[in-house]
Amino acid sequence: MQKRILTGDRPTGPLHLGHYVGSLQNRVRLQDEYDTYILIADIQALTDNFEHPEMLETNITQVALDYLAVGLNPEKVKIVVQSMVPELTELTIYFMNLVTVATLERNPTLKDEIKQRNFTKGLPVGFYTYPISQAADITIFKADLVPVGEDQLPMIEQTREIVRRFNRLYKKILIEPRAMLGQMARLPGTDGGAKMSKSLGNCIYLGDSPDQVRKRVMSMFTDPTRIHPTDPGHVEGNPVFTYHDVFNPDKAEVEDLKERYRKGTVGDVEVKEKLFNALNGFLEPIRSRRAEYASKPEMVREILIEGTRTGRALAQRTIEEVREAMKIRYAIAR
Ligand code: TRP
Repeated sequence: MQKRILTGDRPTGPLHLGHYVGSLQNRVRLQDEYDTYILIADIQALTDNFEHPEMLETNITQVALDYLAVGLNPEKVKIVVQSMVPELTELTIYFMNLVTVATLERNPTLKDEIKQRNFTKGLPVGFYTYPISQAADITIFKADLVPVGEDQLPMIEQTREIVRRFNRLYKKILIEPRAMLGQMARLPGTDGGAKMSKSLGNCIYLGDSPDQVRKRVMSMFTDPTRIHPTDPGHVEGNPVFTYHDVFNPDKAEVEDLKERYRKGTVGDVEVKEKLFNALNGFLEPIRSRRAEYASKPEMVREILIEGTRTGRALAQRTIEEVREAMKIRYAIAR
């Protein structure tokens, strides 16, 4: 039987190059080989946007457009809208009994995110427990593989723990999934920060116009120790070269730039110009496919409806099995 992929994104805005390198690229590469489900996690997005639920609907469309733009084929890949699969909520509740508060407390991703958000009115339980609902996302679709960015690894670990407990306690019906990281664990932000993130304002978005990309590239951080273009510069840890390595298909050009940078015979402007050209070459087909789908909103809607229908049918089969395994499939309900 074909192995299955489940992964997803919170629809909090358009996707950026960090999403591409971390996960989207793997999804596109593996879509022929794996039975692929991709979740637009709007309920998870609500956990810290519950005061602005109106932003979800437009963002669902934005994320769907990004998926289609990078080349996910809707004939193969099922794009599923999380809130339209209520079985996920049920499974989350069952899983809550299998996780201790102490385990959540130790979750490094959760800790980071709580720190970042600085919840002034107190930490909502919904946010605190989102790793449990993410475990439900992954297991209800019986996924073998979860392509994600590095920051999500503790979520997969948490899922594996829940699956082991469930299978031991009730019946071996759930699959222990594996995480799959992208070609780079983490793409740095344009400011040289550890990661590209909307909240840090250091992103290049997949749908950005050439002008926006140029502006971002030209203002990128480089080697802080280099004052003049004739100073020998550092290539390692320099985000401009990290991006060249990932996005510039002309390896000879990249090698030449690195050599001259180290010697101090090339200026930042030339290195950035060439990066802009490379990035633009990479983004151009994505941009035009995005525009094409954006001009056909009915078609995009159909793709989401169809993907969600198939996803929900699978979730319904799993939840039946779960109830059966937990012996809560009573005679009165049959
Ligand atoms: N937490 C993920 C993120 O913030 C999104 C997500 C929700 C997800 N459900 C998932 C990722 C299931 C992988 C599998 O990017």
